[in-house]
Amino acid sequence: MPDIGPVDRTTRAVERSIRKDANPLDSTLRAEPSFRGEIRMKLGLGGNRMGIEYRKLVIADYDELITLWSDMPGIGISAADERDRLEAFLEVNGEACFVAVDGGKIVGTALCGNDRRRGFLYHLAVLENHRSKGIGSALVGLCMKELTRSGIEKCHLFVLDSNVEAIGYYRRSGWTERTDLRLFSRAT
Ligand SMILES: CC(C)(COP(=O)(O)OP(=O)(O)OC[C@H]1O[C@@H](n2cnc3c(N)ncnc32)[C@H](O)[C@@H]1OP(=O)(O)O)[C@@H](O)C(=O)NCCC(=O)NCCS
Repeated sequence: MPDIGPVDRTTRAVERSIRKDANPLDSTLRAEPSFRGEIRMKLGLGGNRMGIEYRKLVIADYDELITLWSDMPGIGISAADERDRLEAFLEVNGEACFVAVDGGKIVGTALCGNDRRRGFLYHLAVLENHRSKGIGSALVGLCMKELTRSGIEKCHLFVLDSNVEAIGYYRRSGWTERTDLRLFSRAT
């Protein structure tokens, strides 16, 4: 059998439990809670059990996004987040950028793109009072699905060493921590 990721393994287990008429969101999701958002999306259950809607991020969201990102520890804002730069990013990568919306208000974001070799995930962010409901994982799931559709096999992300919360989340959510790489940056 091909090597499948933890999300797919869990999804298959949930699908098996559906065939047995068990409640799909019971035992398996309790066992691996960090994947429940992705699993709900894969099973077509969406996040809508909680009234959360997922849609593509559009430039008209800009003012709401910049407020959300600016107020959120763990999200770094730079010149790359100016309106025209985000608009240019969306022109190329808009299919892989999503927001979660609750009652008309944006409560979660994920910017994702690819350079035809690898995918990159930026600004995964969920409002504090909406966390631990699977929204972050659902947004990641949508991004990964879109990268797969584009033929991209791997996605990278950058997280500050000091962001222990997010590091804990990624460790639990099926991402591999790379200790064999160093990131180098320079101004162009
Ligand atoms: C990271 C973030 C997007 C996760 O969003 P979320 O909607 O809470 O994530 P989910 O609900 O899909 O997954 C939560 C699960 O992840 C795991 N998890 C989350 N934080 C964790 C931590 N610090 N350590 C271990 N596991 C953690 C838990 O299993 C949790 O499930 P549980 O609450 O049932 O135990 C959110 O915490 C956030 O917006 N952080 C601030 C912004 C940020 O730093 N973003 C990353 C930039 S690189």
